[in-house]
Amino acid sequence: MIKQKIQDEINDQIQAEFQSGWLYLGFAAWFEAKNLDGFAHWMRMQWQDEQAHGMKFYDHMLRRGGSVELKELEKPKVSVENVTEVFEKVLDHERYITKRIHSLYDLAKEEDDYPLQTLLHWFIDEQVEEEENAKAILEQLKMIGEEGASLYVLNRELAEREAE
Ligand SMILES: [Fe+2]
Ligand SMILES: [Fe+2]
Repeated sequence: MIKQKIQDEINDQIQAEFQSGWLYLGFAAWFEAKNLDGFAHWMRMQWQDEQAHGMKFYDHMLRRGGSVELKELEKPKVSVENVTEVFEKVLDHERYITKRIHSLYDLAKEEDDYPLQTLLHWFIDEQVEEEENAKAILEQLKMIGEEGASLYVLNRELAEREAE
């Protein structure tokens, strides 16, 4: 059986993962409106990833006899001035999620919840990748700027992202 305290935190994390997805889907629409289809594609892939993350926690909870409680999602904050700002927000958001995963791991250790610790090992690695990906795009944007040609090149590059 899974402790109530842990169940509460997992339910919050399910919400946080779907909320992340909501943010990325919001940015997908923002890019769509600017005809930056490659960026929009990248955001859609990210949205799918976040849903898969949410479902990993959801399945974990059910397999252990816990109860999933879905919560409301907030309207995503997608008002930005430019593309660089989008990726600054993405990186900030992923850093926030990393912190959440780390504190969930601390709790799993305190409560001697070994199965959750194992699940979280995957998430700890995943967050390194998530921050790395966002940072790489941000660095490129800072290097090449946002003028027509450079944005076009990056847009083509991001269109290549495949589903995981
Ligand atoms: Fe996630
Ligand atoms: Fe993420």
